[in-house]
Amino acid sequence: MPQKIVAGNWKMNNTIDEGLKLTSEIVNMVDDEVSDNVKVILAPPFIHLNQVGKLIKESDKLHLAAQNCNDNESGAYTGEISAAMLASVGVKYVILGHSERREYYKENNELLAKKVDQALASDLIPIFCCGEPLEIREAGTYIDYVQSQLRASLFHLSESDFTKIIIAYEPIWAIGTGKTASSDQAQEMHAAIRTFLEAKFGDTAKETSILYGGSCKPDNAKELFAQQDVNGGLIGGASLKSRDFTDIVKSF
Ligand code: PGA
Repeated sequence: MPQKIVAGNWKMNNTIDEGLKLTSEIVNMVDDEVSDNVKVILAPPFIHLNQVGKLIKESDKLHLAAQNCNDNESGAYTGEISAAMLASVGVKYVILGHSERREYYKENNELLAKKVDQALASDLIPIFCCGEPLEIREAGTYIDYVQSQLRASLFHLSESDFTKIIIAYEPIWAIGTGKTASSDQAQEMHAAIRTFLEAKFGDTAKETSILYGGSCKPDNAKELFAQQDVNGGLIGGASLKSRDFTDIVKSF
């Protein structure tokens, strides 16, 4: 069975005080209310990572992720953060390929393949995002589209490196729009992703956690997480409220 995971992607929200308050609330709620079989990951902005990491250290259910890393090992890349730097402050996971970064910062599949390699070289686990825009959904070619994202950024990996990868399927038309994919739409895509990954990497893909993201909320998480190939969620807006986020974590 794939590991059940719920990850909160804070995006560019929260000052350090707000972030630490939110983290403390989540630590208390998760420790009190959440069973051991769910892994909970927080992805705050870079400058929060060190202190958020200290707050969640005592809880074995909570883990730390960054929202991005650079595709180079080190050097003259002003304003950038390397995978090794993230690892050095206790980060274990890194979100790569989020549609906002693909769109606003022109990150393409080839660049993302390099980021995946940098992350793995520093023992970070990539949470690799894929997903189609509305026009591709409407044209009916959404499965091909997502498969080509996965092929271009992940198919160079060895089977043993691939086992470390977490996938997040996030249809762009569902992100921050309040318009979630139906549970049938999510399951159709998640099953297609798994079949595609199995064809390349074999049975190991049966264990790959495939998360759904895009307007996932406490009132729709249960139905989404009940789908056979939906192993959890990558949560944006609702991860900024401790009660909502914890209720989503409890939706398995
Ligand atoms: P959302 O964002 O939950 O606010 O739709 C999800 C994401 O972008 O990871």
